[in-house]
Amino acid sequence: MNREPTTPANIYETEALLQQYLLFHYGTAEDQLPYWFGPHEALFYPVRCVSEFLPRLGSVSRALDLGCAVGRASFELSRWADSVVGIDLSQRFIEAAELIQQTGRIDIRILEEGSRFSSVTRYLDKELKRFRCRFQATDALSLSPDFGNFDLVLAANLLDRVPDPVRLLAELKRLVAPGGYVILASPYTWLEEFTSRRKWLSSPDQPTLNMIQSYLEPELTLVETKDLSFLIREHARKFQWSVAQVSVWKRGM
Ligand SMILES: C[S@@+](CC[C@H](N)C(=O)[O-])C[C@H]1O[C@@H](n2cnc3c(N)ncnc32)[C@H](O)[C@@H]1O
Repeated sequence: MNREPTTPANIYETEALLQQYLLFHYGTAEDQLPYWFGPHEALFYPVRCVSEFLPRLGSVSRALDLGCAVGRASFELSRWADSVVGIDLSQRFIEAAELIQQTGRIDIRILEEGSRFSSVTRYLDKELKRFRCRFQATDALSLSPDFGNFDLVLAANLLDRVPDPVRLLAELKRLVAPGGYVILASPYTWLEEFTSRRKWLSSPDQPTLNMIQSYLEPELTLVETKDLSFLIREHARKFQWSVAQVSVWKRGM
């Protein structure tokens, strides 16, 4: 099978992005940011997308992680949920998440510079109930009508990576059970490679959050918003520092 596609839409099938996301999700602080200075508070974003909110929202029966990538937030959700479904369009990311689930082990090839790499092996926290998770390679915008509903739906950094963000918002409304919560996190980095300009949730006169609100209300009510920074290492001397806006929504009974 050809493993190196070239179109921007399937960048998440490449070896480079796989290793970048394994590091982003499972690397230690030292693996990700090997300096005493720098934005250390931006590390462990997939963990914080869960730990910043779930203690207040409480335990749930069924959780869904849309755009789960290599699975760290799904595993974190297993601390709080009896069952977790992680969905991602990337077959390669889902295979990596499933391997981590089976072995508890993560082998990461870290880009240092140019063509120089280092390798580390990390292990999943044994406290995590990893066998509560199930991963599925599929399109979050085309889930079947009988996919069921969930007490908690997390969509972290997915909204600005799909071709039709309004459709994703409609899916969030459909997938969350009455009384359940949606955690929607995004840095709103709108790019034409992923979303045609006419579909961006962006307007000259109002922030993206207002547009999201107009699509999610009245079925969902905004509970809180929070800024969460995150750091993605490209190589030892180049990083992407971003700030996601996390909005938490509750569905009425
Ligand atoms: C920017 S990454 C974010 C991953 C992860 N949630 C995180 O915060 O690290 C976007 C992820 O969404 C996935 N994705 C993109 N379009 C998707 C779709 N239509 N359905 C499901 N997953 C999708 C990509 O494969 C990628 O893993």
